[in-house]
Amino acid sequence: MAGLSPSCYCLLFLFLLGNAGAESLEKATPEQIHLSYPGEPGCMTVTWTTWVPAASEVQFGMQAGGTLALQAQGTSSLFVDGGILKRKLYMHRVTLRRLLPGAHYVYRCGSAQGWSRRFRFRMLQPGPNWSPRLAVFGDMGADNPQALPRLRRETQQGMYDVVLHVGDFAYNMDQDNARVGDTFMRLIEPVAASVPYMTCPGNHEERYNFSNYRARFSMPGDTEGLWYSWDLGPAHIISFSTEVYFFLHYGRHLIQKQFCWLERDLQKANENRASRPWIITMGHRPMYCSNADLDDCTRHESIVRKGLSGGRYGLEDLFYKYGVDLQLWAHEHSYERLWPIYDYQVYNGSRESPYTNPRGPIHIITGSAGCEEMLTPFAPFPRPWSALRVKEYGFTRLHILNGTHLHLQQVSDDQVSSREGGLGLGSGPVPWELGSPRP
Ligand SMILES: *[C@@H]1O[C@H](CO)[C@@H](O)[C@H](O)[C@H]1NC(C)=O
Ligand SMILES: *[C@@H]1O[C@H](CO)[C@@H](O)[C@H](O)[C@H]1NC(C)=O
Ligand SMILES: *[C@@H]1O[C@H](CO)[C@@H](O)[C@H](O)[C@H]1NC(C)=O
Ligand SMILES: [Fe+2]
Repeated sequence: MAGLSPSCYCLLFLFLLGNAGAESLEKATPEQIHLSYPGEPGCMTVTWTTWVPAASEVQFGMQAGGTLALQAQGTSSLFVDGGILKRKLYMHRVTLRRLLPGAHYVYRCGSAQGWSRRFRFRMLQPGPNWSPRLAVFGDMGADNPQALPRLRRETQQGMYDVVLHVGDFAYNMDQDNARVGDTFMRLIEPVAASVPYMTCPGNHEERYNFSNYRARFSMPGDTEGLWYSWDLGPAHIISFSTEVYFFLHYGRHLIQKQFCWLERDLQKANENRASRPWIITMGHRPMYCSNADLDDCTRHESIVRKGLSGGRYGLEDLFYKYGVDLQLWAHEHSYERLWPIYDYQVYNGSRESPYTNPRGPIHIITGSAGCEEMLTPFAPFPRPWSALRVKEYGFTRLHILNGTHLHLQQVSDDQVSSREGGLGLGSGPVPWELGSPRP
């Protein structure tokens, strides 16, 4: 044979062209879509990724099958991952405004170069007089995300208004030139594109100065999601970085900066307490835990609790002083609930009702959503401040009923058949109740 005839070359050429066209369309099609609440009433932010530059637009409306009559534009920024391939991700952010409280919206995002499929969400109420339902967990990986199927299902059923992810994503978002981060964000999309997905950084986000975390999420405030606060129904929720205490080479000044911000924010939250009585914090590494590992809270004095040597910037005194009610943590791959506590002393409301008018904050450690590191065992004997320890995969449901009552429930994904039927609400320990917020 004498080789390819000219017509064959021609065909080959066309084929390549066609393929390149399809690929660039694909690269401009949004993926990894997720929502967050920017902290301003009536607003919701949509964030997504493309692989080539593209416009940032969201089309939305109120009818499921209908036209998407409303539109909003936003901005995109280039994120270059720190890995050797220096992969380029275009991160798009669009904030929808003047949304009606409690209304259902349908949206799609993208540009003329490619649109996402349609997603639905229900807009949060701006005021204090409603009862938000949250799913709370930390430490969920792209591998072994055991709580994810139920979370997806229950989010689609409309069971939650908000999801809180208390640090440690993907394991790790920077891995394999940030492809693991892409995989995780695709997995969480059915949840995070349907309810606001609110985050704080964990130790697994530390590479390249938390750059994947900062680039991929859009949280309220101007710290790229490292610390911020927002109001939700009767609660004020504060998210912060425990990691500023551990990765000092990224800047010791961040400890002081965050601490000063926290104190000012807690003062403001107390001024507003008649309207939003609950103060809830979320941070990744707990002040207390009773796991059998080498962590800060197990083997040493907790730096988050007591601060740097010399006792500067310890958070327990600060949170106690300003009457924080509930502290949500993760990092340990298990669930642990504490009796009300301050400085290792239990401050039950009363012996019969320890959580009614508690005299110290209540700590919940919920890091068992599932990751490649499996579950963390507990030390053999519980400490006197430990109320419940569960070494099972799952997540926490938090229902903020009103200004005096909230319910917490731990859902087990290891006991689907044996416990779920009986309770109706899901498996795991029976719901329990906290009394009035601390004055
Ligand atoms: C890391 O990022 C923070 C902002 O998030 C910045 O203030 C700090 O200077 C950075 N550290 C380094 C070493 O670049
Ligand atoms: C706190 O309350 C629980 C439940 O009643 C009880 O088991 C525990 O001993 C109490 N702790 C203290 C110090 O009173
Ligand atoms: C708050 O909710 C609890 C539990 O449902 C209920 O008993 C209480 O009366 C409510 N308080 C107000 C002020 O509505
Ligand atoms: Fe962690």
